[in-house]
Amino acid sequence: MTALIIDGKEIAKRKKLEISLEVEKLKESGITPGLAVVLVGDNQASKTYVRSKQMTCKELGMHSVLIEYTESVAEGELLRKIAELNEDDSIHGILVQLPLPKHIREMAVIEAISPEKDVDGFHPVNIGRMMIGQEAFLSCTPFGILVMLKESGVALEGKHVVVVGRSNIVGKPVGQLLLNENATVTYCHSKTKELVKHTQSADIIIAAVGRTGFITKEHVKPGAVVIDVGINRNEEGKLCGDVSYEEVKDVAGHITPVPGGVGPMTITMLMYNTLKSARNALN
Ligand code: GUN
Repeated sequence: MTALIIDGKEIAKRKKLEISLEVEKLKESGITPGLAVVLVGDNQASKTYVRSKQMTCKELGMHSVLIEYTESVAEGELLRKIAELNEDDSIHGILVQLPLPKHIREMAVIEAISPEKDVDGFHPVNIGRMMIGQEAFLSCTPFGILVMLKESGVALEGKHVVVVGRSNIVGKPVGQLLLNENATVTYCHSKTKELVKHTQSADIIIAAVGRTGFITKEHVKPGAVVIDVGINRNEEGKLCGDVSYEEVKDVAGHITPVPGGVGPMTITMLMYNTLKSARNALN
């Protein structure tokens, strides 16, 4: 059996078209969704992500501003800029690209962003709202995974989901989102004993460990859905997932490729959240 490939690029393209039409409508009411991206330092990966976020804003007719600081910027200066952006009516979403330099407290920065403009969904208020099933900004990668699963017709209710990885950005929130969809969720991590026993009973595996090829065919029950969140670089600099794609695709029922799987969905949901925030500003 060869798995059906969940084409994140294609789903993202459809969603982006829907978003761009909504942006046009909102513009007729006098509001252009605006995203402020704050970039600190010279991290090449961060620069690439930020560029891609800005290009997507442009593609969808949204307004975007980039605020750049050198590595040595003081935390206070960053906090003052965020306070200013919180008050700026032309800005509906604020995103501070992570990671930040060591001398800056990441949580202080995240908590300084107004929860109503926290389009990354990292603020504890949004995480809390999501946990109790209230209206919230959902963090973009978990939200993108949920949309991909739904768009691919994967049923979630009563399904056993095994999340491998427990980061605040992906592992924890994706498990919670799928729990909200009535899935039965198991979290596995670096201290989990007999990982294969857990993953072998999974209807859906979410691999978010950050280790190239970590999930092999032995981990996967025939027909299971395998979502690969990994974005690792191998020795040749090639982008690789957390899943050994070539062998797992012969066992899984559905699989996401890397690149072209979860990645394109993350940025799309950021655009969706910015649109949603702009719509909220209208009401
Ligand atoms: N760094 C890596 N991924 C992300 C993300 O989704 N948002 C922000 N703000 N920083 C990141």
